[in-house]
Amino acid sequence: MGTFVVTGSASGMGAAGAERLRAAGHEVIGVDLRSAEVSADLGTDEGRRHAVAEALALSGGTLDGVAAVAGVGPSVPDAAAVASVNYFGAVALLDGLRPALERHGAGRAVVITSNSATTVPAVDETLAELLIAGDEDAARARAAAAQRSPAAAVPGSPSLSAYATSKFALARWVRHTAVTPEWARRGILLNAIAPGAVLTPLMTGATGAAEDFDPDAFPTPMPLGTFGRPADIAFWIEQFLRPEARFTTGAVLCVDGGTDAAMRPDAQ
Ligand code: NAI
Repeated sequence: MGTFVVTGSASGMGAAGAERLRAAGHEVIGVDLRSAEVSADLGTDEGRRHAVAEALALSGGTLDGVAAVAGVGPSVPDAAAVASVNYFGAVALLDGLRPALERHGAGRAVVITSNSATTVPAVDETLAELLIAGDEDAARARAAAAQRSPAAAVPGSPSLSAYATSKFALARWVRHTAVTPEWARRGILLNAIAPGAVLTPLMTGATGAAEDFDPDAFPTPMPLGTFGRPADIAFWIEQFLRPEARFTTGAVLCVDGGTDAAMRPDAQ
């Protein structure tokens, strides 16, 4: 049985992913702000270093797979924090744990992005470039400044642009990074899942009831007429982490009930 790191393991998709891996008999090292094997704030450089060091210590330095699931949503008031957690929190953790995946010889990594990267017309190309360049200070400043612009004001989603952009940049990072020799030629597969609307505390709010949400009244189309559940994403997390998934890397899989296909039927 394998050893896997799952970030965001205390709630939603990360919790469902960790549960699924544990049910299959694997060891899971969860990373989250609290209620996890490793408590760490992936929004800070110090927290990311701590998470990597603890995960390496707990695993003995060899990992079968990593699922970078932790993230915050567009309702978070601080757009700079959204950029830090969603982009740098995932990238720094994966970069830091890559040597442990390499030692295994068939490491697997999966990252949760979002279909908002392709379905929400709010991607800030300048912010995306700063994220991909790894300039966190400049990215945070850009996200905060863009948020102050009246054009960016979206009721209930003050960080929508930073959110969609952080996920857009993360998907680009996955595609660029997966094919580099450090990943591809060391047997490490790196893929992304882009969920659509999934009923987790991020979407419903900590106290929100799933019944209060109507798929047919949602701002983006929900062709299947249903929202996703954390287990729907956990299924794909596990598939991407399996050793048998040996010929897929750099993929971004929409798991969104058909939203992206409905909005962009001619995109591939
Ligand atoms: P959730 O809120 O249920 O779980 C997110 C987890 O990430 C929480 O346990 C939280 O404590 C953790 N987290 C947040 N900030 C952190 C930090 N600074 N350091 C460490 N851990 C931190 O939300 P959900 O929906 O399960 O989100 C999982 C991923 O899916 C996120 O990356 C989110 O952006 C993404 N996503 C969610 C969608 C949805 O509709 N729920 C749609 C598309 C993407």
